[in-house]
Amino acid sequence: MASLISHLLFFPLLLLLLTSPSTASAASFRPKALLLQVSKDSSTHQYTTTLNQRTPLVPVPVTLDLGAQFLWVDCDRAYASSTYRPARCNSAQCSLANSKSCGTCNAPARPGCNNNTCGLFPENPFTNTATGGELASDVVQIRSTDGSNPGLSVTVPNFLFVCGPTFLLKGLAQGVQGIAGLGRTRISLPAQFSAAFSFPRKFAICLPSTPRGNGVVFFGDGPYKFLLNTDASTGLTYTRLLINPVSTAATSFAGEPSAEYFIGVKSIKIRDTVVPLNTTLLTIDSNGNGGTKISTVVPYTVLETSIFKALTETFINVIKDVPRVKAVAPFKVCYKASSFPSTRVGLGVPQIDLVVDGGALWTIFGANSMVEVADNVVCLGFVDGGANPRTAIVIGGYQLEDNLVQFDLARSRVGRNGDTLMKEEGWIIGGK
Ligand SMILES: *[C@@H]1O[C@H](CO)[C@@H](O)[C@H](O)[C@H]1NC(C)=O
Ligand SMILES: *[C@@H]1O[C@H](CO)[C@@H](O)[C@H](O)[C@H]1NC(C)=O
Repeated sequence: MASLISHLLFFPLLLLLLTSPSTASAASFRPKALLLQVSKDSSTHQYTTTLNQRTPLVPVPVTLDLGAQFLWVDCDRAYASSTYRPARCNSAQCSLANSKSCGTCNAPARPGCNNNTCGLFPENPFTNTATGGELASDVVQIRSTDGSNPGLSVTVPNFLFVCGPTFLLKGLAQGVQGIAGLGRTRISLPAQFSAAFSFPRKFAICLPSTPRGNGVVFFGDGPYKFLLNTDASTGLTYTRLLINPVSTAATSFAGEPSAEYFIGVKSIKIRDTVVPLNTTLLTIDSNGNGGTKISTVVPYTVLETSIFKALTETFINVIKDVPRVKAVAPFKVCYKASSFPSTRVGLGVPQIDLVVDGGALWTIFGANSMVEVADNVVCLGFVDGGANPRTAIVIGGYQLEDNLVQFDLARSRVGRNGDTLMKEEGWIIGGK
């Protein structure tokens, strides 16, 4: 049901997106916000979008990675652009990008290949592979928005990105040519767009729940209006963004903080029953272990073993009268879908509340907790991350879908519209 709602919700927006071809240069028009349409790839569960890049402009499909440091694309296959500029060693661009290396180019087929380009290390987080790449800039074009409707397309003439090799695409969704990083760096997509157009250092994601559903990334501040002028940026429940002092990214150097987004989960409740947890795991230690991060790379929330056991046992106990069915991997707790009523926010299972730093609740309803794995079989959509994962709780894509999540970097906080699903139905009924 949630997917139907989100499909309806975004339909008017996208209709306009497809029928509004106008463009403007950054010089003549200053947008307040920008938007990218997001799809979900059915076989990999990756969230993808398409950027227009180069001269002449070509569509470049990329996978989103909330925690990644920058945009990287495959430059080895058919990269042709009259506006490609490699970043010269020791340039301001190299220092903005925090590059510490000046490379020898071993890929003569690449545009601008020379021995005076600074290097970074593009990563594929799905295969945990990283390699050397060159920092470069080129034109990027993106659609603006006033918060209600898509507006003119605007261009950023010198958008920084990293050139990677074709083999690094292995494991990415079909047709994808790179990774778009939304992380906390000075050259991530949000950072470069905010700098280019002098708008607030904020962005928001609404991930789609089905391949047919349409999600969005907004760069800049709200309003984020979808339908009937209801603004999804109001009613956000905020918590502090936390900085993990130790990055594990290949590009990082000792002592650098992570570009990923961490929050403080203080406790977890299931229909008012507190899940017994070892709270030491919920804090980030000086080596960067523990804590909770938000990720678009993992499809389902991953929990350290003791947290996983406590959560699933509590869930089972809270509805102990409901018979379970054989588990379907990677999940451990499954039921017949028909055991639960349908509600406005998915199956009527006990809600899971993350009590976040500051005291607010991030409530996970059935639409974001139960995964349909077969006809009439649903499973609790959390997975066991083993005994010693680096991060105790990794909130994954399924638990973010159809919710608006805003990253307010200037104020170092993240807001989630937990009422989105409930409001959505109201909006649609109200509009008919
Ligand atoms: C880069 O340096 C290497 C080794 O010094 C040399 O073989 C190569 O021809 C140089 N490439 C370019 C594009 O200058
Ligand atoms: C809680 O977790 C910490 C960190 O892994 C561990 O050192 C400690 O032994 C755990 N405490 C209990 C009671 O299991």
